[in-house]
Amino acid sequence: MKAAVLTEQGKIKIDENYPAPIPEDGEILVKVAACGVCHTDLHYIDHGVPTFKKPPVILGHEAAGIVDSSGKTFKKGDRVLLPPVFTCGKCRFCLSGRENICQNMVMLGNSIDGAFAEFIKVPEKDVIPLPDEIPLEEGCIIADALSTPYHAVFNRAKVQPKERVIVFGCGGVGINVVQMAVLAGAEVIACDIDNKKLMLAREFGASLVVNPSEIAFKDFLKQNGGPVEVAFEVIGQPDTIESAFKSLAKAGRLCIVGYTNQNITINPAKIMFFEQEIFGSIGCRPVDFPKILDLVSDKKINLDKLISNKYKLEDINLAFDELRESKVLRNIIIPAKN
Ligand code: APR
Repeated sequence: MKAAVLTEQGKIKIDENYPAPIPEDGEILVKVAACGVCHTDLHYIDHGVPTFKKPPVILGHEAAGIVDSSGKTFKKGDRVLLPPVFTCGKCRFCLSGRENICQNMVMLGNSIDGAFAEFIKVPEKDVIPLPDEIPLEEGCIIADALSTPYHAVFNRAKVQPKERVIVFGCGGVGINVVQMAVLAGAEVIACDIDNKKLMLAREFGASLVVNPSEIAFKDFLKQNGGPVEVAFEVIGQPDTIESAFKSLAKAGRLCIVGYTNQNITINPAKIMFFEQEIFGSIGCRPVDFPKILDLVSDKKINLDKLISNKYKLEDINLAFDELRESKVLRNIIIPAKN
């Protein structure tokens, strides 16, 4: 089959004859219809992360497709959504309903081959049916770029109606943190250095937007109601994590969604005196996918404006270049003819 393989750090090559996966017991084969190009992939390509399997590996963890080999629940032709992470169901985190941090998690396009390929094999127990009304190309965005924000907003930060929320970074993931926080009834401030993304954030219900390359962030906050109850950092940079922390009011909560392995400097006095909280958020729990699909089916969340460009597998490096240059929201790869 045709696959885009990360052969060594920095290099994705198209392999026309990559061995097609053969499903084992409990697995099904899925023909990939679409797979989103995520900044997490860029971390793997450009500098690696400690949990990332060494190349060669097929990247791609935001996928939707069509079942190609029937299993116990799914039959050939079924439309499905693939969660990015498969869980063991047995560790203490799975047993306490926190499968998204499963001790033995297996991640597509990280610990095992992902979906930038014509076919992929996946454990049938983790596969999610995709309702007919949701196009496959939008479905792939739900897998991660929408499910991660859902978990961050509703399960981790537990955003409440009327809370003031700021979202640092309105890229493929952050723009959906904006949508989810608006849905939670918050008053949302969107922050990005790209005015086009800020315009979309406004369309999605952000009541204020700020471009920190145009106005000092501190001044903006002073002029616009002061500190906030909740800040999300969805970029993965030490300086924006620090700015997000500084924007917090008394009892404020900082939710870190962006990835960086660099240290940050934060003065703990404010955390102590003001009872502030800092916590992370990663992925989403299996139990949340049906709720997220309902939000999309009921048109409470808008996905069609999120797809920037669609590329064939052969053009995957172009899709990554555009993301690296912050030119796009979500490029998607269409690996196979359907
Ligand atoms: N201030 C504000 N916005 C910024 C800044 C900055 N200093 N630097 C970059 N941005 C904006 C970019 O303009 C872009 O819109 O951050 C956004 C990042 O979005 P994407 O590149 O689309 O990344 P995304 O896929 O959304 O992932 C963001 O979340 O899940 C993690 O690993 C992922 O760390 C990554 C983060």
